[in-house]
Amino acid sequence: MTIQANEGAQVPSEKSLNRQRRKIEKDKRKKLYSDIMIQGTNDYSIVSKRSVEMLYKPVLSGSEDKPTEYFKHVVKKPQRRSPAINRGYWLRMHSIKESLRSIMNQSTSETVIIINLGAGYDVLPFELLENEKTNIFCIDVDYPDLISKKISLIRGSSELRHIINEKSESPIPKHGIMLKTDNYAAVGCDMNDLPLFEQLMTELNLGRDDVCSVFIAEVSLAYMKPNCANPIIQETSKFPNSHFLLLEQLLPAGERHPFSRTMLYHFSRLDSPLQCVQTYPTIEKQCERITSLGFNNVEARDLFHFWKDLSADIKGKIASVEAFDEWEEFVMYAQHYIVLHATNSNVQVYQDTEDEKEGTESTEFVETKLITIEGPELIQRKFAACQSFEGDIVLHGGLDITRSNTTVVIKGNCATEITHNDPLSKLMCQSLTNHNGKLHLSGGRSAPGKPTTECWSIGKLQEKLPDLLEPRSRHCAVSTENGLLLFGGCNGDAFSLLSDVNLPATWKNISSSMPNLEAAAMCYHDGLGLIAGGMLKSGTINGTVYSFYVQGDTVISKPIFQHKLLARYGSKVVHLKGPEYIFIGGVSFHQLFNQENWLVKFNIDTKTVIPLKISDDDWKNFPMLVGFNATIDETSKITCIGGGAVCFAFGSVSNPQLLTIVHSST
Ligand SMILES: C[S@@+](CC[C@H](N)C(=O)[O-])C[C@H]1O[C@@H](n2cnc3c(N)ncnc32)[C@H](O)[C@@H]1O
Repeated sequence: MTIQANEGAQVPSEKSLNRQRRKIEKDKRKKLYSDIMIQGTNDYSIVSKRSVEMLYKPVLSGSEDKPTEYFKHVVKKPQRRSPAINRGYWLRMHSIKESLRSIMNQSTSETVIIINLGAGYDVLPFELLENEKTNIFCIDVDYPDLISKKISLIRGSSELRHIINEKSESPIPKHGIMLKTDNYAAVGCDMNDLPLFEQLMTELNLGRDDVCSVFIAEVSLAYMKPNCANPIIQETSKFPNSHFLLLEQLLPAGERHPFSRTMLYHFSRLDSPLQCVQTYPTIEKQCERITSLGFNNVEARDLFHFWKDLSADIKGKIASVEAFDEWEEFVMYAQHYIVLHATNSNVQVYQDTEDEKEGTESTEFVETKLITIEGPELIQRKFAACQSFEGDIVLHGGLDITRSNTTVVIKGNCATEITHNDPLSKLMCQSLTNHNGKLHLSGGRSAPGKPTTECWSIGKLQEKLPDLLEPRSRHCAVSTENGLLLFGGCNGDAFSLLSDVNLPATWKNISSSMPNLEAAAMCYHDGLGLIAGGMLKSGTINGTVYSFYVQGDTVISKPIFQHKLLARYGSKVVHLKGPEYIFIGGVSFHQLFNQENWLVKFNIDTKTVIPLKISDDDWKNFPMLVGFNATIDETSKITCIGGGAVCFAFGSVSNPQLLTIVHSST
């Protein structure tokens, strides 16, 4: 065959060649910059893992002696992370180790090869090699620059060198294998380069029948486009007896959920955008993906599932590590990650595949509206106390950057701040109740784990009220004919009544059959009360709805209904009309609430739960319905105010606008 020169073809001009050269250079620089930013994500992870090691390991190791630390060899400047980040990273590491342990326990192969794809500075190999009885060979894969730094850190530690039996300097790197001993290899490979990856796998002799290969991708392939990440996964499915553990982000409620928006923005802002999560936003989509890539057995759950599976003993130990009051943030975080196990063997790692969702009657649309006010910064508080009062909305305390002790009055569209003559303590998670024409402020907390007994009346006249009989925080309060009734958020009797039938008013603790609940939802109307959700002492979320009434100094309560959509932590409930109530916001242990069920209607007569669908337009900028408050006025207008969350390490959101909810029943 002869190829004829195209006579019409023009030789490119010097100018056009220069333009092409400049473009190639520019693309190279762009790729280099992007690779550096992606490698930078390891810095945050590793410091967080070190923080967990310092705090959690001594408590969980169960030994009197100081447990062996591994992360200290790769993190020279440790930092203490926030309680939610510590707990989140602990759970992430636990989920991988548990999955791995289950695979290893079931393996009948002579050797288990663990290949950590995008390993960063993780010290998993050293921990496994030193503590596991199985015959293990570990391989860390990451970008060459990062692996080269990791090798320097390993070589700088006699303990780590000893674990991997590194005696002499390694040979010149071959196909990216930059360090190899008889139980460990460190491999520099940009996994976007599939041929190099394939070569490496051949070189490492992974295709043997007598081994079990476990590939781990812990938030690493997430930074690669699916067209590059998928062939890597496919390649790993070709080995005999192969397992794949994938931990990466999810968007269970779509990308417009306030937590999801914050997470996506965070990674884009750092120039390391998440590349797979939009294509595979749910557990179902991820399972379909992995099945299509050659693994015939796939099982997956969200990371929070691992929390629910923990024994009471472990949960108790974790609770003792540090005071913790970030449940909403922790739950939302863990529901944004999938842990998936895929294999071409028959090994099953996770026990249950319980369907977490509960059926509902139908869905109704609800109209919501965001209202901009003058002085928006004054309502950007989380866990403030709130009450509608004389036609205005009153907001007190809560957390902005620091805890506040001021009161904000919202008249129409204008917020004004009031400071008190006799300064109040700076608290959050208090209750504010309109009782007999006075605003009663009760309980609350300063630092996590430090609830108070303080009580004030903060109407026109500021007046000290008798202290609570025991501290309460994240409790509920309602005004009843028999006095101000507090519920939950303490260690003793669930109810306490400020009985003001005879003056001076005094607090009485009331024994009842109600369990003590933290962050439950409560309302009271025409002599009938309703309590739902909240956390039981066991650490599970209450799924029972209770009705109650007050008789003298007694509260008579009874369970009336159960529904998973009402099993919420930190939600609010308001009475609409007749038998109808609306539950707003909070978090669930069963699922991340979404556009279709963050608001639900409950009918106490027919015992029906109807999800209220938020329109697509309203959902785009929907506020974070945690740490917020809801009031209903005489015209049945529901207003949500304040609220927000620290979305793990991704940044904070707070709600600068009021949200009004208009429902047909109103
Ligand atoms: C968030 S860190 C996680 C590190 C480690 N898996 C952990 O959980 O501690 C992501 C890691 O994936 C690595 N990574 C991402 N894309 C990669 C690629 N194309 N090739 C090699 N490594 C990659 C990064 O360099 C980084 O070390």
